[in-house]
Amino acid sequence: MTTHHYSDLQVCVLAAGKGKRMRSNLPKVLHKVLGRAMIDHILHTVELLRPKGIAVVTGHASELVREHVGQPANLEWVIQDKQLGTGHAVKQCEKVIRDVRDVLIVCGDTPLLQVETLEKLVSEHRQSASDVTVLTANPANPFGYGRIVRDENGHVTSIVEEKDASDSERSITEVSSGIYCVRYEVLFALLHAIGNRNAQGEYYLPDIVPLALNAGQSVEAVMMNDADEMLGVNDRVHLAHVEDVMQKKIIQEWQRRGVTVEKPDTVRIEAGVSIGIDTVIQAGCYLIGSTTIGDECRIGPNAVLVDAWLDDRVNVYAFSHIQGAAVGSNTQIGPYARLRPEARLDEGVHIGNFVEVKKSVVGSGSKINHLTYVGDASIGSDCNIGAGTITCNYDGANKFVTEIGDNVFVGSDTQLVAPVRVGDNATIGAGSTITRDVPTDGLTLSERSTQKHIKGWKRPQKDKR
Ligand code: UD1
Ligand code: CA
Repeated sequence: MTTHHYSDLQVCVLAAGKGKRMRSNLPKVLHKVLGRAMIDHILHTVELLRPKGIAVVTGHASELVREHVGQPANLEWVIQDKQLGTGHAVKQCEKVIRDVRDVLIVCGDTPLLQVETLEKLVSEHRQSASDVTVLTANPANPFGYGRIVRDENGHVTSIVEEKDASDSERSITEVSSGIYCVRYEVLFALLHAIGNRNAQGEYYLPDIVPLALNAGQSVEAVMMNDADEMLGVNDRVHLAHVEDVMQKKIIQEWQRRGVTVEKPDTVRIEAGVSIGIDTVIQAGCYLIGSTTIGDECRIGPNAVLVDAWLDDRVNVYAFSHIQGAAVGSNTQIGPYARLRPEARLDEGVHIGNFVEVKKSVVGSGSKINHLTYVGDASIGSDCNIGAGTITCNYDGANKFVTEIGDNVFVGSDTQLVAPVRVGDNATIGAGSTITRDVPTDGLTLSERSTQKHIKGWKRPQKDKR
């Protein structure tokens, strides 16, 4: 993790491109990679440098991007009305940048980029007292990237885009990541000098390289250790690939931090998730959003947790679904249980198969083991809620609350018609429809129909001919 504080560095994030190849109503940088928008990935990474400021260049649907990101104190929005190229995009930042040593230019569509790589770029740029430094890579397939052209002494002379390259230039395997560190003093004069006579009729940022050399300035290249980091997302095939690469990294990171992940290829763990040590994530689990899991838990197989909060030693058995719920320690859930938003379970609770809990508090040690709906309820500690119990919380227009005290026993197949209260230590007989408050202690049950016996009665028989 970074230790630097680059108070003399300005970051520019280029995010104005339309992202045509995504074929989407959403601007490209708002597409999510492992649950986090691409723009958030890159902003999170550059924030770690603690730069003086961050300028984000937007164009297409810029309001949507702004609305999504909000307004961090050190962030300036820059509008590029027409997407005339990457050089033109950086030039739009001129008004918002002053009093810095260097400008770091990154693209909004490379969510795999790591802060260590940016630190390496900035520090080597400064150590070599370079004016323009480009971050390069040797990817398995250089197709589509700008190629790094060097002279016989190995000095970078230009960067040639795929569409402008000759056959021999296309055979170069070293490519530009599109990421640069440029001395502020020289940057904008260079940007004003670039033209657009090329295959795409665009103002190319890479053209600052020959312009700087002509002006007697120095140009350096810094190679990335891992070419995957510059993988850009131009369409949804790339999106899936980048997500794959990131998923492997995230899972390995959790494994190194003491989490067991069984059959990792079948598991989804999003970027905002956190997991404690000695927790086991079994095959097919989806851990989504801001899900937080404590130590020594067991999850799965095939459980889905969305923005869930789990304390230590929680067992979530197969095929359970937990969303927006908080679960206390030593709790058992499932198999086939569903916890919905605002379910709050205290310690040592048991929630069994085909039980749904919504917007309800369940006290410590209480058990709701089979086929039950609990909604808009509060249940005290050490209760036993029998199979098939239903809190009837909804009259078609309004929701009502059920309040159950401590140490209550609710017999099977009971309907609690809310609003209703059940006192401490009460017992409710099986099959009751409870419409009025239940006093503490004793047995409460609704009237039962009488049981009859018809002697000699025979079940109809199938005709065996
Ligand atoms: C660019 C580089 C190429 C490099 C590659 C690395 C240029 C001309 N080419 O190509 O050398 O190998 O990145 O991924 O710089 N953008 C704007 N305004 C514009 C045009 C683009 O903000 O007018 C933004 C895009 O939103 C994107 C970034 O700049 O985030 C790069 O643009 P893109 O069109 O993806 O360039 P590439 O063809 O990938
Ligand atoms: Ca790109």
